[in-house]
Amino acid sequence: MAGKLPKSSFRLLYLDPPFLTGVKRVGTGSDYSYDDRWPGKLQEYLPWLEKNLRAMIPLLLPNGSLVLHLDWRVVHYAKVLLDGILGADAFQNEIIWHYTGGGRSKCRFSCKHDSLLWYSSGNCPMFNIEAVRVAYKPTSGYARSGIVSAAGKHYRPHPKGTPVDDVWDIPIVNPMSRERVGYPTQKPLALLERLISALSSPGDLIGDFFCGSGTTLVAAERLRRLWVGGDVSPAAIRCTGNRLKEATAET
Ligand SMILES: C[S@@+](CC[C@H](N)C(=O)[O-])C[C@H]1O[C@@H](n2cnc3c(N)ncnc32)[C@H](O)[C@@H]1O
Repeated sequence: MAGKLPKSSFRLLYLDPPFLTGVKRVGTGSDYSYDDRWPGKLQEYLPWLEKNLRAMIPLLLPNGSLVLHLDWRVVHYAKVLLDGILGADAFQNEIIWHYTGGGRSKCRFSCKHDSLLWYSSGNCPMFNIEAVRVAYKPTSGYARSGIVSAAGKHYRPHPKGTPVDDVWDIPIVNPMSRERVGYPTQKPLALLERLISALSSPGDLIGDFFCGSGTTLVAAERLRRLWVGGDVSPAAIRCTGNRLKEATAET
């Protein structure tokens, strides 16, 4: 698919591929599932990931952003891979998406975060931190009346809260939530909305070629971005189409 799209045209590519979990991911809705079994394990998975990344990266605008969403299984290999393809200086952040819910391990600390590697194809990617301020922690002095320095200068709280850092606490899509469509590993709209708001502007083109249930495209539509999505699974495309119909009716 990437070979048919115009090069240097996307402000942001968000890629959420299979994570090498070694199992078939099955959802709760209709025939929603995808295979994340790799008989050759890492030796099969990594060349596959590299081939996809190398095909997709030329689609980025100069100073465009690539966000690769993975977890502890392969994120360290993927970082080395992307340092090799784009250069280590292209790395911007490893965003930790921390969530709660699901089971708890009795043998080790429970894994409750994913890693989102943000790289840019240039030195100066779009970064709109003002669009993604978050509420001050209740324990922060700013949450009350602000902070007074030793020299007596009063730092007042910003009305929209504090600039978000690289650890994002965002709940997973709750089984009871209206947002849930039953697609396995569906990501929350709040996660994609924050990412798209910070790394692009209205009218920009956003791509997601592992779009699954279509979360990125729905978030892009709501934020008045243009979008292109793809997925190997016809059920994913159907699910995405249904969600987009609802989203376009809302906007
Ligand atoms: C982690 S899920 C994406 C979930 C999505 N972000 C969401 O919020 O619903 C990974 C997706 O990659 C798709 N996929 C797997 N192999 C693929 C390939 N070779 N090309 C395109 N999509 C693929 C799967 O069908 C699955 O929908």
